Parts: sequence; structure tokens; C-alpha cells
Amino acid sequence: MMLGQFPATRLRRNRRTPWLRAMVRETHLTPANLIWPVFVTEGAEPEPIATMPGVVRQPLAALGGLAREAASLGIPALALFPNTPADRRTEDGREALNPDNLVCRAIAEIKAATDAVGVMTDVALDPYTAHGHDGLLDPAGRVLNDETVARLVGQALVQARAGADILAPSDMMDGRVGAIRRALEAEGFADTHLMAYAAKYASSFYGPFREAVGAAGRLQGDKATYQMDPANAREALAEVALDVAEGADSVMVKPGLPYLDVVKAVADRFDVPVFAYCVSGEYAMVEAAVAAGMLERTKVVPEMLLAFIRAGASGVLTYHAPMVARLLQK
Ligand code: PBG
Repeated sequence: MMLGQFPATRLRRNRRTPWLRAMVRETHLTPANLIWPVFVTEGAEPEPIATMPGVVRQPLAALGGLAREAASLGIPALALFPNTPADRRTEDGREALNPDNLVCRAIAEIKAATDAVGVMTDVALDPYTAHGHDGLLDPAGRVLNDETVARLVGQALVQARAGADILAPSDMMDGRVGAIRRALEAEGFADTHLMAYAAKYASSFYGPFREAVGAAGRLQGDKATYQMDPANAREALAEVALDVAEGADSVMVKPGLPYLDVVKAVADRFDVPVFAYCVSGEYAMVEAAVAAGMLERTKVVPEMLLAFIRAGASGVLTYHAPMVARLLQK
């Protein structure tokens, strides 16, 4: 770095006026950087989520309008998360393979309304299992890897046939990206994008989400045998390298802000788009502080999201997406 000496160099010169600050700004947050996660319910009315004030589970009939709203705001994609009715959750999560399940009907609703936004779906069994784990269990309660991957391949194909543009395996089983990619190629889905939840940590910041998708009371134990240890950063690079080699088109780091070092390390090392998921617990923290009068939502949220772009992310999944897109449009 070449810097002069004071007073020849005064860095405040570049901060003097708004136009000058705009001229030297290094990064920009735009609506195109935002992916909007949407919870879906079988019910006919929007359902508030106690742990995520301001977010509701959306009925199917609302999704077309929501997708058009996203398109008009410049948000490129929605990520769908179904709240499967309790009577459709089983030990083996077979509802994931039902071509008429809630998420497949949600995809159809959106596709019937507009093709101006992408539809992303989660590949993992937890919305469908009675025990709340992302995979199949053996009799001792251990999460089985290869048997689960076979299921995930079936789930991915069901979602691809229903019209999903982006499949996002969020289960953290080994080898699932390669297995899904091979199946997609074999079935004629050469263009389906795979966004791998490559570095997904076993995080307590997912608590509010589990309430939203009805998994909160079910989960026995934790997900530490498949999701990553929050202490590890180098291991995240290994996860990303494998997923890219197996056919991921983009990779994700999750959660977001507490893992920005990982976002940066991945973006520096890999020439694929990197996304970050600013998760439910991060949303809840901001909203709690806003409700308590401690923070200003319209100031802190864009600042948080800009941090992801500065760290090298192409985009962020955030429940604040529509609010921020509206702000940025002004
Ligand atoms: C499910 C999944 C989770 C999230 C996205 N997909 C929860 C989990 O792994 O338990 C969390 C999202 C959030 O907290 O906002 N595989």
C-alpha cells in the first residue's frame, strides 16, 4: 500500500460531500443482491410467526402476488420453505417425494404468476420428518448419510420437475451435490442451478426458523453430526471445494454475520458466486432491538447487508429483502 504523509495525504478529503463519497464508494448493495426466503402454509390465511415478528407463513394463494412484488422490486429470487402439516411428517420423510406436496404446489403458483423471478427450494428432509432431522435415522438415532442422499436425489428431482430453478441442498450430507447433479443430468435437467449450502454450521441462530417451519418441538438432540462446528473455518474451505467439484453452481455460507470471516475466505479462494444466509436468529435480534427502541431498522439492516457484499458475497438471503429493496428503490 502506497500512502503519502500528512498533510499531503488527508483521507478525509474523499469524505467531504455526498457526491464525493458516492464517487469513491467501493461496494454497492442493490435489490439484485437479495434473495427473499418465504414460508408457506397449507392454511388459507397468513400465519404470524411468534419468533419472527413481521414475517408470516404465506398461504398458496398469496404467492403469485408476492412473486410479482419481488420482480417489481428487482429481487431476483424467492426461496421457499414449507410448513408441512403434522400428519404428513413421518420417520422417513416420504412427503418430500410427493409431487403434489406443499412446496411443489407453491412452485406452481409462482410459475403461473410470473417467470420474472427465480424459485429456489431447499433440499433436506427436516420439513418432512417426524423427528426434525435433515436425514433418515438408524435404530440408534444416528443420521444415515448414503441412505439419506438417495432420498435427497428423489426430492431434488421432484422439485426440478415441479419447475424449481435453483435447488439448494441444505442437509450437509456428504456426496449429495454430486449425486443430485448426476441425477439432474440423467433426467434432462441440465440447466437446473445447484446452490449448495456448502458451509452450514450447527448454529443456535436457526431457532426462530425451526418455529416457523414447525420443527421446533420435534428435534431430538442437535445437528452437530452433520452441520459444521462453529469453531472451524478451514473445514469450510474443504466443504466448498468438494461441492464445487461435485457440480455446485454457487455456494452458501450460513449463518451470516457471525461467519463473515468464512464468507470472505470462501470468496477469496473460489471463483464461483458465494451467497450468505442472514438467518432467522439474526433477523430476530434486529427486530427485538428495533422493538425495544434500541436500533433503527432502516439504518442497520442495509449496513449489515452491505457488509456481506464488502466481504465478497454475490448476494444474501434475508427476511428483510422486501423492506430493503423498497428502501433502495427510493
Ligand atoms: C433446513 C434449514 C434450516 C434453515 C434453512 N434450511 C434450519 C436447520 O438446519 O435446522 C435455517 C434458516 C434460518 O434460520 O433462517 N435444512
